[in-house]
Amino acid sequence: MMWTWTDCLCVTLLLLLQRAGSEKFEVLGPTRAIVAVAGDDIILPCYIKPNISAEDMRVDWFRVNLPDPQSNIRVHLYQDGRDKYHDQIRSYEGRTSLFKEELKKGNTSLKLTRVQGTDDGQYKCLVQSKTHYDDATIQVHIRAIGSKPELSIEGQKEGGMGLLCVSKGWFPEPELEWLDSEGVTLSAGPSETDRDYKGFYIVKLKTIVKETDTNHFTCRLRQRQLSEQINMETEFHISSELILVHTDTWRVAFAVIVSLSIVLVVILAFTIWRCNRLSNDYDASKAKHSQELVKDEHSLELS
Ligand SMILES: *[C@@H]1O[C@H](CO)[C@@H](O)[C@H](O)[C@H]1NC(C)=O
Ligand SMILES: *[C@@H]1O[C@H](CO)[C@@H](O)[C@H](O)[C@H]1NC(C)=O
Repeated sequence: MMWTWTDCLCVTLLLLLQRAGSEKFEVLGPTRAIVAVAGDDIILPCYIKPNISAEDMRVDWFRVNLPDPQSNIRVHLYQDGRDKYHDQIRSYEGRTSLFKEELKKGNTSLKLTRVQGTDDGQYKCLVQSKTHYDDATIQVHIRAIGSKPELSIEGQKEGGMGLLCVSKGWFPEPELEWLDSEGVTLSAGPSETDRDYKGFYIVKLKTIVKETDTNHFTCRLRQRQLSEQINMETEFHISSELILVHTDTWRVAFAVIVSLSIVLVVILAFTIWRCNRLSNDYDASKAKHSQELVKDEHSLELS
């Protein structure tokens, strides 16, 4: 088969087009996790190699491994030369942007402002041309130092006085512990964990205390998951009267019950004694009576 010059041109053009369209690239992210302090503005690095322009590509930033598989995953989408926000996760609203000047150089990094607890986790940066795509994974760790533990009295509980310790605004989750004045851990209920709307942790721990020599109690917070451990302590002194008022109520109630019981027992004992005596008297008189009858019979026989 003979090739005409038009065939040759077509093949050459096709090859050229294919080469241009299928320009291969790699998407690269940071080699280490990004550690961000709550409230900061951060850059999630992502770029393509070789550094061709990404202006005409689709740049898709999304979350992976979210706890709820049904939830939306989109963080930021750039497509057809524009940012598209229609299916963005609510918590990212107004906080994401790409560097438009940098896109020309293949830099598809994402700017995320005012980071919060919900931003913690894994991200993917997916860059797609007409014929090729690649992605990179970026891990983000959020760090937030919360409030000093706050203590309050919950009131009289079975076995003593209920105390509550609460601390807010943490990431990751800290641990709480109740201590007595000698630093000995007090038994406490299970610690309760909540997250606020920004994803920061709120932790609560309850305990029940009895009166001690000092009535001094401490709630200790520990954040062990950070490179440097954080310890915070809040001390609490309950006035003796406060515990006593409540303990007294119990003491008085107890005393009343005990005294009433004693009185009842005395009355009961007396009643039983009286009854016994009465029945004894009755028996005695009956015996006397029958003796007299026997005597009468005897006298009858004798006569
Ligand atoms: C791409 O990288 C090369 C080499 O690092 C550099 O000389 C060139 O200016 C870059 N191009 C763009 C568009 O940034
Ligand atoms: C991408 O752009 C951001 C923002 O200007 C910059 O901080 C970062 O170093 C750039 N990354 C690369 C690989 O050029």
